[in-house]
Amino acid sequence: MEWEIFKQFRMKLRNAYELELMRQSGQIAAAALKKAIDAIKVGITGLELDKIAQEEIYRLGGDLSYKTVPGYKHATCVTINEQVVHGVPTDVKISSGDLISIDLAVMYKGWHTDCAWSKLVDHESSIEGHEEKKRFLQVGEEALWNGIAQAVDGGRVGDISHAIQSKVEGVGYSVVRSLVGHGVGKKLHEDPQIPGYGQAGEGLKLRSGMSLAIEVIYAYGKSEVVLDSDGWTYKTADGSLAGLFEMTVVVGRDRAEVLTCLI
Ligand code: MF3
Ligand code: CO
Repeated sequence: MEWEIFKQFRMKLRNAYELELMRQSGQIAAAALKKAIDAIKVGITGLELDKIAQEEIYRLGGDLSYKTVPGYKHATCVTINEQVVHGVPTDVKISSGDLISIDLAVMYKGWHTDCAWSKLVDHESSIEGHEEKKRFLQVGEEALWNGIAQAVDGGRVGDISHAIQSKVEGVGYSVVRSLVGHGVGKKLHEDPQIPGYGQAGEGLKLRSGMSLAIEVIYAYGKSEVVLDSDGWTYKTADGSLAGLFEMTVVVGRDRAEVLTCLI
């Protein structure tokens, strides 16, 4: 238990000045993510989407947070269908009915924010499995908002985890175990880890001013993932669809402040 107490004091709380910089970082990230998500259409490639996001980040005065990840050179990660996270953008053209996720992080005056969203390509109900795919995305988004709703002073990391897990697994999908949300701020990945699965009332106590990247990383089928031969991309082991919804938030007294809201 002593370790738990130590961790409690190690967690940084953002002061008003830092929070203002993180807000600006988050607005750049959200604008760039929205631009890339809106640009998703049949025939476009991951590399083209990455370029759109990158240009928007630079245009708004931000920098690429993923540059701080050794060996990674893109603004975004783009994952398609059974790909889960860390998809390296490629020149493969996107097809009708594909499920695309874009994950993007920004660094602004040294402050990082991280966000991701998933979208179904082409909204025609004639696409095979259309309703099922729409429902899959709806559940992931709801799980994210449910998790964010738990990011309040005095709560626990496990409250966020449990809210996400019960939504996703309550309808028979599964939360990926080996990939988790995280603290974010001075660095892209900070303590604590925020799993999308766990027990309410357990884990680190949340305090106003903690900045967290809450992530819903989930699969239509089983939760196991495997690393692709490119050494970056994780995909579901059973080949089922995967979705990704992520927002950077700051824990507040009564409610979380979402820094990367897309609207
Ligand atoms: N947003 C991703 C995460 O939090 C980080 C991607 S790092 C990259 O897991 F290098 F793969 F881009
Ligand atoms: Co993240």
